[in-house]
Amino acid sequence: MILVTGGAGFIGSNFVLDWLAQCDEPVVNFDKLTYAGNMNNLLAVRTRPEHIFVHGDICDNAHVAQLLATHKPRAIVHFAAESHVDRSIHGPGEFITTNINGTFSLLEASRAYWSSLADEDKANFRFLHVSTDEVFGSLGPDDAPFSETTAYAPNSPYSASKAAADHLVRSYHHTYGLPTLTTNCSNNYGPFHFPEKLIPLMIANALAGKSLPIYGDGKNVRDWLYVSDHCAAIREVLKKGRCGETYNIGGWNEMTNLAVVDTLVDILDQLAPKADKTSYRTQITYVTDRPGHDRRYAIDAHKIERELGWKPVETFDSGIKKTVQWYLDNQAWVADVKSGAYQSWLEQNYNQRDAVPAAMPGGAQ
Ligand code: NAD
Ligand code: TYD
Repeated sequence: MILVTGGAGFIGSNFVLDWLAQCDEPVVNFDKLTYAGNMNNLLAVRTRPEHIFVHGDICDNAHVAQLLATHKPRAIVHFAAESHVDRSIHGPGEFITTNINGTFSLLEASRAYWSSLADEDKANFRFLHVSTDEVFGSLGPDDAPFSETTAYAPNSPYSASKAAADHLVRSYHHTYGLPTLTTNCSNNYGPFHFPEKLIPLMIANALAGKSLPIYGDGKNVRDWLYVSDHCAAIREVLKKGRCGETYNIGGWNEMTNLAVVDTLVDILDQLAPKADKTSYRTQITYVTDRPGHDRRYAIDAHKIERELGWKPVETFDSGIKKTVQWYLDNQAWVADVKSGAYQSWLEQNYNQRDAVPAAMPGGAQ
């Protein structure tokens, strides 16, 4: 069996669902269920005996050690993290605790467990660390995309905490020989994406008749990848990746935030037209920029294609249509996550941002 951390979050739950749709190998899903963890994401596998959910914290070394001793996984796929840049700006502490100390604690428990394995199991064991392209910092308009040899230059508390975790993983391979693999992926989108991130937030706000808040001038560029393509890439790295290596994963799909929101508006106007026949585009507003906002991310995903034969299946066009349809079909899921803690976060993040006139995009930039 495999152990997944953070398997009730956005990417982790998609990974668990895809895994169990494709094979019968059991998954132990270890998750703290923070505001971002949602058992409703896993309803489709609630009757599958191969899905074993364990509520717990990766910082709890004794709990993880006991879990490893009980279930004896052949691999760990580590998703658990605090993942939202804006939250890391408002309160970096949790990011240090979970992303750095938590990964350290998980590595320590994994090292002790791995050391106790018989030779063959030891050789076959894998620790796959799921990371982000944000560790590489920000690109200029004409810079080459991030490759596996690009120097780390994280700019937010989130990306700095992920970079620290990446370095710890690297050191556990180099120093102790732990069979690690690291993936650095670009921005994901798709089902079960928590509506605090750009794409699901814009869909939810549009349908609720609220404003569509664009930070700064909206010309920041991200490389978008459909979540099931990311999950497929992780499976390939787990199967065939070389220990100690890192693999960049991306969608070959650079877009400005404005272009993303424009696409969403067009699809929503078509699939869920407003009663008054006006376009959702009228709800776009420009708000004060995110402090330290990275201008451009782009991924060179040649290595994973060349070595492991992976490339994305979805285009942005096909993936974003599926995503909007999923949100339209799953309004109850959205309503559920928009209760409680999520509401107080919205107040904290957006009530402190001034609306800026469209003629002067950029605000504090
Ligand atoms: P998410 O915030 O949706 O989910 C994180 C999950 O981790 C939640 O289920 C949460 O309950 C759990 N968790 C948090 N702290 C924990 C702890 N201390 N112990 C156990 N579980 C804990 O995140 P996501 O968007 O699904 O991202 C998953 C991973 O992929 C993260 O490591 C993130 O850095 C990385 N990543 C995300 C993206 C993206 O676009 N979302 C892109 C590249 C890499
Ligand atoms: P986000 O989904 O938070 O991902 P990340 O910051 O990790 O790339 O944001 C994606 C882009 O969208 C980023 O450039 C910030 C921007 N953005 C907005 O313009 N408005 C918003 O309300 C949010 C949440 C993000």
